Amino acid sequence: MNIENLVRDFIEINGGREDDIQVFFAPGRVNLIGEHTDYNGGYVLPCSLQYGTYLLVRLLEDPMLRFRSKNFPTTARICMKYEIIPVGKTWINYPLGVIREFHKKELVVPGMALMYAGDIPNRAGLSSSASVEVVTAFAINEIINAGLSKIELIKMAQSAENEFVGMNCGIMDQFAVTMGKQDHAVFLNCETLDYELVPIALGDYKIIISNTNKRRELANSKYNKRRSECEQALEILNSFKPVKTLSGISVEEFESLQDKIDDSILKKRARHVITENQRVVDGVEALKKGDIELFGKLMLKSHDSLKSDYEVSCSELDVLVEDAMKIEGVLGSRMTGGGFGGCTVNIVHENQIETFKQEVGKNYKIRTGLEADFYITEVGNGVIRAVQS
Ligand code: GLA
Repeated sequence: MNIENLVRDFIEINGGREDDIQVFFAPGRVNLIGEHTDYNGGYVLPCSLQYGTYLLVRLLEDPMLRFRSKNFPTTARICMKYEIIPVGKTWINYPLGVIREFHKKELVVPGMALMYAGDIPNRAGLSSSASVEVVTAFAINEIINAGLSKIELIKMAQSAENEFVGMNCGIMDQFAVTMGKQDHAVFLNCETLDYELVPIALGDYKIIISNTNKRRELANSKYNKRRSECEQALEILNSFKPVKTLSGISVEEFESLQDKIDDSILKKRARHVITENQRVVDGVEALKKGDIELFGKLMLKSHDSLKSDYEVSCSELDVLVEDAMKIEGVLGSRMTGGGFGGCTVNIVHENQIETFKQEVGKNYKIRTGLEADFYITEVGNGVIRAVQS
């Protein structure tokens, strides 16, 4: 996306001069392994994408917020003299929820004209929403010089989504789009928020994202349901081994404790979380050793577990994984993000990328009637003040 063009568009819509406009950028993210572990106090391994959301801001004299997006038609003008409440079920709630977080901290947010422009495919599970939240939090922190740490901004962005949008997400997405670093994955302990940037040294292999382009129906409510199932499983296991989260239980401990859970669904949910958590640890070790084949195998196991135990996959995601693995030079494939649609992430030999796109795309169309999209992923940096070029 060209910043100069965005600035020109902004001035056309909102007036003002080039010098008055501040530009910020936050990426989207793809998770390599560690799905549905974040809200269970576990490990995740996401990385930030080259795609993301630009935010252009100009300060206004009056306490008004003027929202616009190049991606959605809905616009809004909101007066901050009144209590901030959600605007229907629109995209505006993501940034507005963040502004409310500043109000909760009794920080004064000035009137602003805000224009968002993103190139992350919408509803693909690549965190376009976290990207909007984080870019807003980061920009306001800079503009009002509030001195909030990145960790505080991450928590505010998550809280906006939990409380204002009503999606009970964990912290992974907001963390990855804030802390991501070029050519690195973020190995995050979601309980302590300790993290390590792990170099992604894939040699001749590339990360390819395949988009099912399937609408993610009711994904938020199904997600919230999984979360409460995990809480129920934890409550049962807790009376045998006192732990704060499911991730406090090792795979071996789970083997001996699992029969204490009568409900077969709750047992499967817990099994996914506990085994997935171990797969992240093993995956990081494999990456550090340069054992990409092992990493690929762990990705496949992760997908199976998400499909059978956690039941957040769907036939379209399964088809993409199955057909990906038929192509020579593909080491691993799995659904990524919350599930019920969205994308898969694949490790593909660079010589096989064209074959991959052609074959997987063709078979996907035959088997599902849908067109898949493919993105060759470059791992970018986290949120920044964008320099005008
Ligand atoms: C969504 C949520 C994240 C995480 C993933 C699943 O992306 O926003 O917090 O729970 O699903 O791993």
